This record gives sequence, C-alpha cells and structure tokens, in this order.
Amino acid sequence: MERFTSSVTDSSLLYGNTHILWLDQPQVLNNCRPGEFLMTYIGDGHDPLLGRALSIHRLREGINGPEFGLLFDVVGRGTHWLAQRNIGDQISFVGPLGHGFEVRPRVNQMLLVGGGIGCAPLIWLAEELIADDRNVTLVLGGRSKEQIFPSQLLPPEIEIVVTTEDGSLGEKGLVTGPFKRLLPWSDQVFACGPDPMFEALYQVTKQAGSGKSLQGLLEGRMACGFGICYSCAVFPKKGGVRLICTDGPQFDLKEIYS
Ligand SMILES: Cc1cc2nc3c(=O)[nH]c(=O)nc-3n(C[C@H](O)[C@H](O)[C@H](O)COP(=O)(O)OP(=O)(O)OC[C@H]3O[C@@H](n4cnc5c(N)ncnc54)[C@H](O)[C@@H]3O)c2cc1C
Ligand code: FES
Repeated sequence: MERFTSSVTDSSLLYGNTHILWLDQPQVLNNCRPGEFLMTYIGDGHDPLLGRALSIHRLREGINGPEFGLLFDVVGRGTHWLAQRNIGDQISFVGPLGHGFEVRPRVNQMLLVGGGIGCAPLIWLAEELIADDRNVTLVLGGRSKEQIFPSQLLPPEIEIVVTTEDGSLGEKGLVTGPFKRLLPWSDQVFACGPDPMFEALYQVTKQAGSGKSLQGLLEGRMACGFGICYSCAVFPKKGGVRLICTDGPQFDLKEIYS
C-alpha cells in the first residue's frame, strides 16, 4: 500500500449515470488483483478530508504505458468531482487495499454475478479468467437497462446474462433467477453488489443445499480504508466483528450470513 498521484488519461460517461476514468498506472499497482480497491482523495485541498473507496476496475496498456481504470456511479459530491476531471488532471490515491477474489486452480466453470455498479471489479476478473481458458458466465442485473454495462465492450468469449427489474433489457426480474439456474453448472461463484443481493444469493445457495463457496465483495462506508476507524465493521450472524477494508472486501458470504 502506498500513497500516489496519477494523471487522468481518459474520462467519459460510459452508460446511464456510470462514468469511466483511465489514469497512468504507478508501479505499486503492477501486481494488484481484481477485487482490490483504492481510497480516492477528491477535491484540491483537505475538504472533504475522507477518501472514497473505489474498486480497481481494470488494467490496460495505454498509448503511453500502463493505465488503470475506475468505473463509478455518480451518486454524490466525490463521484461528481471525479466525473468532472479532464485529461492531465492529477488525483491522489492510497492503495492497493484489501483482499481480492481468490480463484481456485483447475476449475473451469466460473459464475460471476454483478448487481448495478457491482460489475466494476467483475469485468476485470472475467477478462482474466477468459485469458486463462476458463468458461465464464457473467450475470449483470440492474433496475433498468441504463444500469447495465454495455455487452459490446466485453470480450465475446464471456457468456452474458442480463436481468432488469423493469424488463427493459434481458430477463425481467432479479439476478437470483439466473443464479438459481446456473449454480449447479458452476465450479466457483464470485459476486459484487448491494447487501440485499448478497443475502438473496446466500439464501438460494442454502435452499439448494449447495456447499459451494460464494465469494462476495462487501461494500460499506469507509472513512480510512486501512483498519483504523472501524466505520466499515460488519457483524457476521454467528457473532464477532470483521472489517471490510482489511479482512475483506472479499468474504465467503456463508461466513457473513449463516
Ligand atoms: C471496497 C469498496 C469498493 C467500491 N467500489 C466502487 C466502485 O468501483 N464504483 C462505485 O461507483 N462505487 C464503489 N464503491 C462505493 C463508493 O465508495 C461510494 O459510491 C462513494 O464513496 C460515494 O461517494 P460520493 O462522495 O460521491 O457520495 P456521498 O456524498 O458520500 O454519498 C452519496 C450517496 O451514496 C451513498 N454511499 C456513499 N458511500 C457508499 C458506500 N460505500 N456504499 C454504498 N453507498 C454509499 C450514500 O449513502 C449516499 O446516499 C465502493 C465502496 C467500497 C467500500
Ligand atoms: S474503513 Fe476504517 S477501519 Fe475500515
């Protein structure tokens, strides 16, 4: 983990209310993994003081060297500021932080489930799994088609299943529908999205009597990002306390919900 500053190389509204920023990649991110995140410091001084947690969306080779991407919904002051950045602007970060997804060797059928902006770290994971010759099905869910990452921007080898609550794209309903169908097919499951989605996925797994692990990237309000403030504490149903920033954000959902 390091504090670093990077220059914006590209910035655009990608779909709906979702923005993508590309920035020069510092060496400290060379070995980072899908699911790890950065504390992103917005503003030009010390107001606001607290960083905003954002997953590393992807790495890519840019025209002038390696770049990393951030994919975010514009929901408040920090993400609005980020969306206003122009090419050449500098942004400060601390990272990489947290524990990302853990992919088992010698398994092939990979099921990825993203709710809304939860697709941000899963797309990078999907690309890595495809490059490693695994079969990937990516379920993308949202309230409407404006919340769905454009499938034409994804590698064609990824099997994509879309659900929207209003039926404006793909199957009408929640991601739990395709998840229930695809669970028996899968060797490993990775998920990212809101807490109610995680709880629903866990309940489907339990009702199916499946012993499969279900890795989820938990989200919480984060003030520091590295284990000092306890603002990101979660309380597993069995008892105890876990910090999303340092123990996670990747957890086996059974550990949280059973
Ligand atoms: C580990 C981690 C990774 C994340 N990765 C991404 C990502 O890749 N892309 C992305 O768009 N967002 C991501 N988030 C959520 C992101 O941190 C918040 O959306 C962001 O901090 C909002 O900042 P803001 O100043 O724009 O909004 P604020 O003004 O701080 O808040 C605006 C609204 O967003 C809600 N909100 C703020 N923070 C969170 C949060 N952590 N979780 C849920 N709701 C929140 C507030 O309750 C409020 O309703 C991640 C969060 C965590 C903990
Ligand atoms: S964000 Fe401060 S302890 Fe996790």
